[in-house]
Amino acid sequence: MRKPIRKAVLPVAGLGTRFLPATKAVPKEMLTVVDRPILQHVVDEAREAGVEKFIFVTGRNKGVIEDHFDIAYELDDTLRRRGKHEAIAALQADMLPEGAASFTRQQAPLGLGHAVWCARDLVGDEPFALLLPDMITAAGPRGGRCLAQCVDAYREFGGNVVSLEAIPESETRYYGVVAVGAEHGPSIEIKGMVEKPPPGTAPSNLIISGRYILQPEIFGILEKVEKGAGGEIQLTDGMSELIKTQSFQGVRFDGRTYDCGSKLGFLVANVAFGLEREDLAPALRAELKKMAL
Ligand code: G1P
Repeated sequence: MRKPIRKAVLPVAGLGTRFLPATKAVPKEMLTVVDRPILQHVVDEAREAGVEKFIFVTGRNKGVIEDHFDIAYELDDTLRRRGKHEAIAALQADMLPEGAASFTRQQAPLGLGHAVWCARDLVGDEPFALLLPDMITAAGPRGGRCLAQCVDAYREFGGNVVSLEAIPESETRYYGVVAVGAEHGPSIEIKGMVEKPPPGTAPSNLIISGRYILQPEIFGILEKVEKGAGGEIQLTDGMSELIKTQSFQGVRFDGRTYDCGSKLGFLVANVAFGLEREDLAPALRAELKKMAL
């Protein structure tokens, strides 16, 4: 029996410099895709995959993230008195159960590897999911969003799992890139990985796209890992060490991934998620037709 994936780490300490000035006072994770924060879409994806405990690695100026997952008493009370039952139901659907959310702080922006390491005591000695909250995903034909498909691969193969996406060769230097071996359906054995490889040196065009299942041994490795690409403590460097003793599978996610950390990805996500909404789709489609060049 494999240990179930009960806990997820969500690193939300990033400064959001690609989105200034919007992110000067508002955390980038709280920008909205339609009417819900990006982070809520990511939490939904984790819940769908069976996650019960949510560990947010926050930083300074991220207090509204905690508020978002708490009861807003005055708001609830006002909505109740005004009989706004739909709004109350929407708020309740997005709440996490009591005690299900934990918050710890990454005190300095030392990199993703360091952010994950900050969650070590809250995760403890069990495998966990990691979701990078810039990315939101929409289910594909195999069913389930990206983390659910990663959990499927974990149930089959155990060990560690990362989600993969094929991108143009010219973009690989911005991501973690994997070297791959044998394919088993949607899963691929991973042989190695490198963070932000210089142009022309990437081992493939398959990048790590922001969803991971990791074994707790990663924490001991991250404690010792040296600064890597961009002078940061890189998770990919830690995983490159872990792969020497444990297996890694890659999952080619068959749905769509929207990189909401980029302006274009964020705009596209808003349109795509808007078109999924019965209450908005007809009018939005008509507006888009008017704008089409
Ligand atoms: C991080 C990871 C990288 C991964 C990417 C996905 O990079 O370090 O391996 O491919 O997320 O978005 P960052 O976006 O923080 O530069």
